[in-house]
Amino acid sequence: MKTVKVTLKDGVNWVGVVDWNIRDFHGYVTNRGSTYNAYLIQDEKTALIDTVKNTFADELVQHITELTSFDKIDYIIINHVEMDHSSSVPLIATLAKNARIFASQRGKEALIDHYGPEFGRVETVKTGDELTVGKKTLRFVEAPMLHWPDSMFTYLVEDKILLPNDAFGQHLATSERFDDEVDEHVLMEEAAIYYSNILMPLAPLITRKIQEVVAMNIPIEMIAPSHGIIWRKDPMKIINAYLNWSAGATKNKVVIVFDTMWHSTDMMARAIADGVASQGVDVKLVKLRSSPNSEAITEVLDAKVVLVGSPTLNNQMFPTLSSFLTYATGLKPKGKLWGFFGSYGWGGGAVRSMIEMAKKAGFNVYEPGLEIKFVPDNDDLKKCMEFGRQIAQKI
Ligand code: FEO
Repeated sequence: MKTVKVTLKDGVNWVGVVDWNIRDFHGYVTNRGSTYNAYLIQDEKTALIDTVKNTFADELVQHITELTSFDKIDYIIINHVEMDHSSSVPLIATLAKNARIFASQRGKEALIDHYGPEFGRVETVKTGDELTVGKKTLRFVEAPMLHWPDSMFTYLVEDKILLPNDAFGQHLATSERFDDEVDEHVLMEEAAIYYSNILMPLAPLITRKIQEVVAMNIPIEMIAPSHGIIWRKDPMKIINAYLNWSAGATKNKVVIVFDTMWHSTDMMARAIADGVASQGVDVKLVKLRSSPNSEAITEVLDAKVVLVGSPTLNNQMFPTLSSFLTYATGLKPKGKLWGFFGSYGWGGGAVRSMIEMAKKAGFNVYEPGLEIKFVPDNDDLKKCMEFGRQIAQKI
């Protein structure tokens, strides 16, 4: 239940919901929950921008009702059809029976595909189109693939507020709504996790879209995404972070992602880490089965080198490594050097199968990989340290 009205600017209110409990967002582990943000614009006309996940529809209805009655809603703007934002649209469209609905052309098609032919009445908008709601103007900017082909941004011209839906969001449940009210470190950490797990494969599009918005010369005083905190203190902070991340900015850092059965690969990972650290390079170890893929990929974001270690199970890599490499392949981290190591008992196969998978994905692979039979002895651990030293020297 909302207890405090959240006003961005006069006539612009947050009517979203906080999902304190979600820990699995289609496979992305959301340790700090999330929010589904919707916004109500009230002027001579009333416009609702986006809705929320339908399990929270009652709360959205209540928040809107605190500000207006549904028969006064003139426009419903659907910036993105993924169900965390649109699954309350059928209910809201029924309640707001006078409202015209607007989406991009692909948004209209996706609404029909999700919710049926009655959404054939959706009106389509494209980049540069405007809708006047009184003294306020909504301007639309198509943003395909940020996050789906249908995605678009809505810009409140007079209030200088950008509503970019998924872009610039974070999965962060809090009772606060603005960047100046929360711990900045937590906010940027969640923004980086969100970028890594959702937007990383779209890096070239992000760079181009930000350049396009900058070229429009539209002032942005506030960025109000559809997840998490609203950027009002320093909206350029998240724009610059996105430009850095999408440009592939890295630190002198090696991340070692591994799993282990009887600790041989664990011993190798630690010795390799010592070798990396001996060269003054930052190193992070992430053991799968203790940490989810979403955490591992976040560590990959700013690393120059990714080392992946696996024990051999039935002549293959261990299943958690297969899962991680599948996840990483889809997210397409750019500009990394990938190295592989692991242990085996008799036939081997883990390192070979990981290298094959990485090459197929187009990753830049450091060869040869390093394999140790059964339990590493002191000589083996020295080889691991040397492997780490050599990798660190590549940075
Ligand atoms: Fe938050 Fe692509 O949905």
